[in-house]
Amino acid sequence: MANESIDPDVLKMFSFGVFSKLEGAVTSGMIHLGDRLGLYESMATRPDGVTSDSLAGHLGLHERWVREWLHNQVAARIVSCHDLSAVDPVFYLTPEAVCVLATPDHPAYGMGMFHRLPQTMAALNYMPESFRTGLGHDYDSHGPEGAVGIEKSFEPWNQNFLIPYVVPALSGVQEKLEAGARVADIGCGAGGLSLLLGRTFPHSQFVGYDISVHALERANERLKHDDLSNVRFVDPREEAITSGEKFDLICTFDCIHDMTHPTEMMRTIRQSLKDDGTWLLVDIKAHDSLELNVTKNPMASLLYGVSVLSCMSSAMSSPDGEGLGTLGLSSSKAQRMARDAGFTSFEKLPIEHSVNAFYEVRP
Ligand SMILES: C[S@@+](CC[C@H](N)C(=O)[O-])C[C@H]1O[C@@H](n2cnc3c(N)ncnc32)[C@H](O)[C@@H]1O
Repeated sequence: MANESIDPDVLKMFSFGVFSKLEGAVTSGMIHLGDRLGLYESMATRPDGVTSDSLAGHLGLHERWVREWLHNQVAARIVSCHDLSAVDPVFYLTPEAVCVLATPDHPAYGMGMFHRLPQTMAALNYMPESFRTGLGHDYDSHGPEGAVGIEKSFEPWNQNFLIPYVVPALSGVQEKLEAGARVADIGCGAGGLSLLLGRTFPHSQFVGYDISVHALERANERLKHDDLSNVRFVDPREEAITSGEKFDLICTFDCIHDMTHPTEMMRTIRQSLKDDGTWLLVDIKAHDSLELNVTKNPMASLLYGVSVLSCMSSAMSSPDGEGLGTLGLSSSKAQRMARDAGFTSFEKLPIEHSVNAFYEVRP
């Protein structure tokens, strides 16, 4: 259907823009395979480079498939190559690529979202129904590997920076943790934060709360391995957060915007916190408007998409869900909600993070 008002150059550029998104999606699938099959890990151990044959041989894989994967990776500038014109090219990872792709304890390690890509994308199958009914899906809909993906996404940074930078930035908290404090990690996921704090502060008691069966299973498995007697993981629907002694510190890491009832949760946090206690609120660095998010955050389209597939879906997983979503809890909104829940002090901590903002919230 010809339309004279269509500018062919604009059309070409628009089409290119749309297909470059597909290039990103398909290459993301290839990154998932590189991680899952140990291709990056194997390449990281051989900084001088590998041929498709040696890489396939090292991992017991079929050379033809590995070669095609390498061609995708080099075209996407993820894997490097000494000489593309060679008959049998040698491929390698730069030291920076090794950090992002193959070093799970490096703060820049980025394989978490790629790990759970199949589960995240599988949500597309039930999304049309959610768009019609309004009802989303909680984190358990992503299966056990979804919980592992979350663990791989957030933990590298936490493991590196939480104890040396975040805890000391909270007024009086380090001393309390050393002496013996009661701590809750709400929305604890696979439990990495509670386990790290539990190991570091043996005189304190930690309770991780989550409503995801898969996350709790993973957390309890890791707890068995760590053998810590000061950490436990529970479902708040079985043991209410308000039920025991009040807490000195409550942490919520990247989860308030996922909750169906964040307003009620903030009231629960206030009710469960001692009057001299601290709530460490960590959530996505979101702006107050669509305009600001789109113009100031280069990852806005990724984050809004993840919101539909995961965060907002979780926040809409009950009929009366508030539906905040990934970019739904800006600093000013969090402050307003915290004040309404009974908190009087709300400070942004001077912690640099690519995605998250850190707040010290006090009664
Ligand atoms: C993005 S994950 C973050 C997990 C963990 N804090 C971390 O940083 O790795 C969000 C978690 O919040 C949990 N969650 C959602 N609503 C919850 C609620 N009402 N109470 C407790 N956990 C909840 C989800 O099950 C999920 O495990």
